Amino acid sequence: MLTIKKLIAEKLVAGIALLGVPTVPSADEIAAMLEYPPDENMGDLALPCFKLSRVLRRAPVQIAAALVDSLGDLSVVERAEAVSGYLNITVSGEYLAREVLGGILREGERYGADDSGKGKTVVLDYSSPNVAKPFHIGHLGTTVIGHALKKLHEFVGYKCVGINYLGDWGTQFGKLIVAYRRYGSKQAVEEGGIDKLVELYVRFHTEAEQNKALEDEARAEFHKLELGDEENLALWRWFIEISLAEYQKTYSQLGIEFDSYKGESFYTDKMPAEVQKLRESGLLKIDDGASIVDLEPYGMPPCLILKRDGSTLYPTRDIAAAVYRKSTYDFDKAIYVTSAGQSLHFAQWFKVVELMGYDWHDRLVHVPYGTVSINGAKLATRTGNVVLLKDLFRAAIDEVRGIMTEKNPNAENKDEIAEAVGVGAIVFYYLSNNRNKDINFVMEDALNFDGNTGPYAQYTYARTCAILRKNGEEIGGGTWQITAPDEAALLKVLARFPEKVKSAIADYEPSIITRYILDVAAAFNRFYHNCQILGAEDPAVRATRVAITGAVNVVLGNAFPLICLKTMEKI
Ligand code: ARG
Repeated sequence: MLTIKKLIAEKLVAGIALLGVPTVPSADEIAAMLEYPPDENMGDLALPCFKLSRVLRRAPVQIAAALVDSLGDLSVVERAEAVSGYLNITVSGEYLAREVLGGILREGERYGADDSGKGKTVVLDYSSPNVAKPFHIGHLGTTVIGHALKKLHEFVGYKCVGINYLGDWGTQFGKLIVAYRRYGSKQAVEEGGIDKLVELYVRFHTEAEQNKALEDEARAEFHKLELGDEENLALWRWFIEISLAEYQKTYSQLGIEFDSYKGESFYTDKMPAEVQKLRESGLLKIDDGASIVDLEPYGMPPCLILKRDGSTLYPTRDIAAAVYRKSTYDFDKAIYVTSAGQSLHFAQWFKVVELMGYDWHDRLVHVPYGTVSINGAKLATRTGNVVLLKDLFRAAIDEVRGIMTEKNPNAENKDEIAEAVGVGAIVFYYLSNNRNKDINFVMEDALNFDGNTGPYAQYTYARTCAILRKNGEEIGGGTWQITAPDEAALLKVLARFPEKVKSAIADYEPSIITRYILDVAAAFNRFYHNCQILGAEDPAVRATRVAITGAVNVVLGNAFPLICLKTMEKI
């Protein structure tokens, strides 16, 4: 479906050509200049003509006046006015009914999508918790932003590979092995699962404060693991299995699946080749016994490649992993979603990859996000000072179940709904903020059914389903008529979905979709309160309003999965 902007831009270009100017801008350039005016009295779109005045060698006022005529006979436009150098355009009801409403219903599941990513692959590295360390609310960002970005890219045709780069290697396993042998037991870990592992890990640290020898012991156990000691390997595999089983529960609540779980350990044997390449290209410098790449010319501290004892580091592994992923998936983009605290790490090793001469270095994208703190939620902090993601979800689900029992005690599938609404509330709340902002999480706000929340959005979707169910019949194609301002206003919001998808991808910013969902919900609820839908007397008006409700259903139904929000026909 041609967006309104594009369609109008094409007409404007034709109008500009008639002015007899030396260079005529393209329709895309004009479309990009079209703005949404702040006040609806100024129309639906505006062209700031001063932006054209240099190229066209005409005064803005003159351009605006001349272009009014170019839109004259277009059924898309109801009114075009030149106002102090702006060309203000009001879209016609006829166009909204025929093209916007008709287009959405025709395109259905594909509305908002395009095939700009067709034939290209995106690799997304996200969630990636560290085994045996708690999967805490700090991981909420990477998990849901990462998944939303995957969905968004898939929506526009990219082949996506979601990678959970598990932190499954490192000295923490030495610590865990020591703690397990000293303070744990098979039975306790089998029963306690990951909580028990985290507890053992925490215990190790408390004990190690008194007993320094424990650290050496842990190093020795990790070294044995590196050398392939069978017993340690078996424990290591078991710890990972237990942790993964637990993460799976959280992922399934979110509807997330990964295409690969190749974690850090997978790259152990892939690092020497990259270290060798670094050495051969003269990039490695020895600094106090360690091997580094000097990044001073680029205004960054050195990137550490090998420790004094020759062991590899976090950047070393990331470099090897990127090389492996490039050769395995031939990605067009590789996206890494982590907290902003890791921005320097990514900037450093991206630079090293560039210095190594890998021409795909500019395909690496780091997507950072801000911190999350918690307020107002009574959450168990059994394991040190962190709030676990699963406890946050659990608390939200319990709360929703409570609200539901009060509001709708006889609802079917209460558990299923409570889970989808509870988890959805958290995800929605989180994703309604710009990702770089630091967030203070307030459970009451996230769960407020009347606020700008996930439950409110889900409830709005369910409302459209209820109306369509009651209507019973399929929405036929028809000649619809726009008769009320709230209908037009709603359709104009719906018309913006494709643009929102594009900017969410361009900015790696899922919150654009979340906030758009709120715009749709607000416009729909205004329409719902001010316009009789099923009760409209005139059959043409009724049919139009049912069709509009169907279009809202399509747009919300397409938008929710992009931000990991479940659609439910009944709440
Ligand atoms: N495991 C790391 C952590 O929890 C995140 C890994 C991010 N991905 C990467 N390729 N470095 O902090």
